[in-house]
This record gives sequence, C-alpha cells and structure tokens, in this order.
Amino acid sequence: MHTVKEYIDKNKKRFIDELIELLKIPSISADTAFSQDVLNTADSIMKSLKEAGCDKVELCETPGYPIIYGEKIINSDLPTVLVYGHYDVQPADPIDLWDSPPFEPVIKKTDIHPEGAIFARGACDDKGQMYMHVKALEYMTSEGKLPCNVKFMIEGEEEVGSESLAWFVPRNVEKLANDVILISDTGMIANDIPSITTGLRGLSYVEVEVTGPNRDLHSGLYGGAVANPINILSKMIASLHDENNHITIPGFYDKVEELSQAERDEMAKAPFSLEAYKNALDIDDVYGEHGYSTNERNSIRPTLDVNGIWGGYTGEGAKTVIASKAYAKISMRLVPNQNWEEITTLFKNHFENIAPKSVKVKVTPHHGGQGYVTPIDNIGYQAASKAYQETFGVVPIPQRSGGSIPIVALFEKELKSKTILMGFGLNSDAIHSPNEHFGIWNYLKGIETIPYFYKYFSELYK
Ligand code: BES
Ligand code: MN
Ligand code: MN
Repeated sequence: MHTVKEYIDKNKKRFIDELIELLKIPSISADTAFSQDVLNTADSIMKSLKEAGCDKVELCETPGYPIIYGEKIINSDLPTVLVYGHYDVQPADPIDLWDSPPFEPVIKKTDIHPEGAIFARGACDDKGQMYMHVKALEYMTSEGKLPCNVKFMIEGEEEVGSESLAWFVPRNVEKLANDVILISDTGMIANDIPSITTGLRGLSYVEVEVTGPNRDLHSGLYGGAVANPINILSKMIASLHDENNHITIPGFYDKVEELSQAERDEMAKAPFSLEAYKNALDIDDVYGEHGYSTNERNSIRPTLDVNGIWGGYTGEGAKTVIASKAYAKISMRLVPNQNWEEITTLFKNHFENIAPKSVKVKVTPHHGGQGYVTPIDNIGYQAASKAYQETFGVVPIPQRSGGSIPIVALFEKELKSKTILMGFGLNSDAIHSPNEHFGIWNYLKGIETIPYFYKYFSELYK
C-alpha cells in the first residue's frame, strides 16, 4: 500500500509522458480540418479510462463529436462522483507567436513554475486538468483506495459551446445520476494560495455583419457620400459602452444581481496585487466599469467585448477602398440570473435599432449559456476544502471566476446536482493564448488532491 504521494513519486515520469502523448493530438473542435484528430483523442481517452480501472467505458455517439463515458461502480449504496472534462482544445493560432510548436509538447522552467511546465495547446485547458482525474482514479483503483462510485463524462465540444453534450445530458439522466459533479477546468489564485471556484459567468456570443454599398468602392470617388460599413460598425460598437464603461443596451442590467457590501468586502479579502497584475500584462493602467474593482469587474459584473473585427483591405501596402461589408464577433459575459437568450435578443434589437438607414445589419447568434454560482455550505465544497487543506496545508479561498463553462448550469437543471470546481491552473498559464502551459507541480498536486476529495466526500455523505 502506498500513500498517494508515494504513488505519484513512483509513477511521475509515466504520468508526464502519458499527458505529453495526449497533447500531441491536435483536437481542435472549431476547425473541421482536425476532425479525425478530435476522434482519435476520444479513442485515446477511452483507452486511458479502461487502463485506469473503469469497469465500463463507452463511446457515446452524438450529432457531433462523441462523449466518452466511463464508470466504476463499487456499491450502489455508496455516493457517486461524476467527473466532467473536455478533450477538445482551442485553435492554436496565431501560431507564429508560439516559442515551440503547439502540438509538440516541451517542458520548460518559468519564474512561476521553477519545477517546469508542459508547453502545448490544451496543456492546462483542459487535457492536463482532465487527465489528473484519470491518474487519480488509477491510484485509487490500483491501491484499493476508491471509497465510492465514480463516473466520467469527457466531451469534445466544450470550446465550441457543448451543443452535443446539451443534447446528450437530458437523454441520459439515469446513466449520469450522481451525488456531486467534479470538474477541473478552472484556475486558482497561486500555488501557495489555493482557491476553489464558486462562480462562472454566462455567455452570449454573436457575430454582426454591416453591409453598405453592393460592392467595394473607390474611396476617392465615393468617399464622403456613402456610408463606410467599417466606420459605421466602429461607431456602433463604440456606442455600446458609455463614459463610465457601462453597457448601453437597454435592459442589459435588469436582472443583474448586485452583491451586498458585506459580500463585496468578503471578496476584497482575497489576496490581489494590482501592481503585479499590471506588470504581468505590461499595461500602465487597468480599464473597466466605473465603481468596481478589477476582481469585481472580471467576475461579478457582465461585460461586452469585441473578439475580432474585420473588413476592407488588410494586406500589404495601401489600397484606397470603401468596403461593402464589415464584421465583428462579440461576446457578452453574463452573471447569474441574466438569461443568455434574453440578452442575445436585447443585443440584436438594439444593434439593429442603432444602425443608420444607410447600412443593413445582420446579427447572428453563435452560442451561449447561463452563469453559475455554487454555495459553500454543502458537503461537496467542504470535501474539496478539506482536500486542499490536506495537500496545500492552507484553507482554500472561495472565488468567483470570469470564465464560462456553460454546461454547468445545465447539469444543475437536468441532473439536480451541484458542481465543485477544483481548478489547478494559473491565470498566467496562457490558456487560449500562444505558449499555453501547465505546471508539472500543479499537475501532480491535482493528482494528489483529488483522491482526498473522494475520501472526504464519502465520509461527509454518511
Ligand atoms: N476552461 C475554460 C473556462 C474557464 C477557464 C473558466 C478558467 C474559469 C477559469 C473553458 O474551456 C472555456 O474556455 N470556456 C469558454 C466558453 C465556451 C463556451 C467557448 C470561455 O470561457 O470563453
Ligand atoms: Mn476548458
Ligand atoms: Mn477553453
């Protein structure tokens, strides 16, 4: 019999090598050129779950990419933990900005990760964090330390909106029945300041198209006399925030829940250095909604951001042209209570309303989802907190995150269970950015902490 620490020490190299192999497959769900790679990754997850001790592993077909389901049921009287994760990754571009190829993982030391970090797309989001659960299961099954039942549900479309999972979950409520859902797909404050994520923002993602004249025009012959869609789109986008950086869409804030001063004071206790924050991003100042702190702006407040904008001539040199069309992709991060479909409609109506007659506007919704907050007075949170205390030696801080995992709200609705978000990544790990990485210390710490969650959850459940 080994402690989890001894087991990790003994198997560390293999754990790292296995993750590296998984990271070599470019499972980019957004780009159909990689669909075979996404499917190959699903197969690889199946194999890993079998090897880690699942009694039953299934590839569940959906209208999109398959969902990998695995389970080890030891006794139906014992509680069941459902682990969720995703095997798809974000596109790697801009590839030029990577110091090493995104799908050729390398281990490098950094200031924050002196023990080394694995650099690859998906290292932290979410292959590395998902695989911690597979290795934690391996430890628990091979050392006879699994105290309850476990189910795995690993999907391949998280980065594109989890449409197939939203189809799958209501059709498999019985199969997915559980007492708590456990996810590692978020972050923590720092390696010496562990935190448990207690909130996620919702999302509404739309694309807009502004059309002016029926063809591209000479900007001298027509300039000044017809609407330039790029000028108009820029103006329209600029008008979506007022001088206090409040969003101007009528009704946008109607359902936003204002936190009490006591709750805000509690939040403000979390360790945070504005100087370090600015330094890490090479910015001279932060920017955001008037009346809120940086941590509030990126967690308890809704936002509207342009994610991409294009149109006209962007090649080398200068071309004098008034483009016929201009486009932008816009995301709105929402807080719990804001309904994403309602917000999408508010946006669409407003955007169409503010367009001058000289252009036509088309708004296409992409995807979205509800935000989520979890209370901390439940045994899932308490079990997680005790697990961190065991392996980090300090009490973790509850923290609401700005990111989104829209499917979590659906889990609560369909499966009626709470989700515990035990993330081991850091904000500096560059998820979705070039040079994404995941600290080896974090990876191994996750594997070490997870079995304690099972232990304490099972104890508290009695
Ligand atoms: N794992 C992230 C979400 C996340 C990261 C939450 C860090 C909290 C902290 C997830 O893979 C993600 O990127 N979600 C998307 C939304 C999705 C619908 C594309 C996001 O937040 O942009
Ligand atoms: Mn993720
Ligand atoms: Mn992501």
